[in-house]
Amino acid sequence: MGRTQVAIVGAGPSGLLLSQLLHLQGIDSVVLERSSREHVAGRIRAGILEPGTVDLLLQAKVGERMLSERLVHDGFALGFAGRSVRVDLKGLTGGAVSVYGQTEITKDLTDARMAAGAAMIFEAREVAVEGIDSRPTVRYLQGGRVHELRCDFVAGCDGYHGVCRQSVPRESMQCFERGYPFGWLGILADVPPAAQELIYSNHERGFALCSMRSPTRSRYYLQCELHEKLEHWPDERFWDELRRRLPASAAAGVTCGPSLEKSIAPLRSFVVEPLRFGRLFLVGDAAHIVPPTGAKGLNLAAGDVRVLYQALAEYYRTGRENLLESYSEKCLRRIWRAVRFSWWFTSVTHRFSDDPFNHRLQLAELDYLAESTAALTSVAENYVGLPFK
Ligand code: APR
Ligand code: PHB
Repeated sequence: MGRTQVAIVGAGPSGLLLSQLLHLQGIDSVVLERSSREHVAGRIRAGILEPGTVDLLLQAKVGERMLSERLVHDGFALGFAGRSVRVDLKGLTGGAVSVYGQTEITKDLTDARMAAGAAMIFEAREVAVEGIDSRPTVRYLQGGRVHELRCDFVAGCDGYHGVCRQSVPRESMQCFERGYPFGWLGILADVPPAAQELIYSNHERGFALCSMRSPTRSRYYLQCELHEKLEHWPDERFWDELRRRLPASAAAGVTCGPSLEKSIAPLRSFVVEPLRFGRLFLVGDAAHIVPPTGAKGLNLAAGDVRVLYQALAEYYRTGRENLLESYSEKCLRRIWRAVRFSWWFTSVTHRFSDDPFNHRLQLAELDYLAESTAALTSVAENYVGLPFK
């Protein structure tokens, strides 16, 4: 039987970042990941980092490449009714966001963990968590054998579909959920971005987002039907539809090219309460999902990791459990604010139905935003990320 201080289930950004920060505190962990290393490295996800997330990556000593390759964005644009309004993040809050893909963060973290000789077990199947009320054990199948890992704590960093949340009795938790009647169709292409900053566009035909990964790589999204099929979206149709949904100046800036990746994701809000069950802590997507509109998923995950690694460090240094005890409450407060912002931003930019009243309300709200520094400041504050209390 193996033994470690913290068993971490999942090698996404949450699990990798937690293991790296714990390592720097002299705390031992083992990461168990269901997929292969290549599969984890190949996933394409969001790419906007709050300043707090940038700080945490620097604390984790995995920020060097990010600092040299990121694009710093002082603002973004909101398009609606043929207009474009700039949300001046820097001017309104003093802060800015960084554009740096989650794929790159995962790579930087994996490289750092590998270089430190970390225990990372990929293709660990049938992970099962037991004994979370006293002495946790994590069992898994690898290379045709069942292995057991004893630990002090389990960090459930295994995403929305993971096993950790499911190993807690349903009656011990409360789940809050909101589905949205649409998805996002995303493409990645090696073409220069339509504009220097991101553009979130409300349009009668549906929402569109212009994002990027670098000066030569663009990421675009279109609101689509929930059950839309990728084969109905050849590249030409995507580019045509994108240009129709953008303000004219942005549409003129779109460079078309072959897609490197194309995918559809449903939008949902989800939160589980609490986040701690005895010696099991849920972290990141395992505990909460937000629609991508507010660019909060990865940043919220980093926020959980920050609170948990500090609590574990305090526990191993002093034996005190007070920070472990407040993990759930502290994180949930910030999570619910991000859930609110992501829900609001989705509500005001997407097409919900053929309800013209609703569309008029959205336009009135965006029109108000365009003219109110107070309203814009609220958007900017939430977008760059709320402080930890
Ligand atoms: N056993 C082991 N590993 C598992 C299991 C399991 N039963 N189930 C899932 N996993 C792994 C997945 O293969 C994945 O690599 O857990 C990892 C979870 O990673 P993410 O889903 O990326 O979640 P997280 O690390 O919390 O990252 C949050 O990623 O999904 C985005 O929007 C999200 O940007 C946010 C960030
Ligand atoms: C992205 O670049 O993938 C991205 C950017 C901003 C969002 C969502 C996704 O709000």
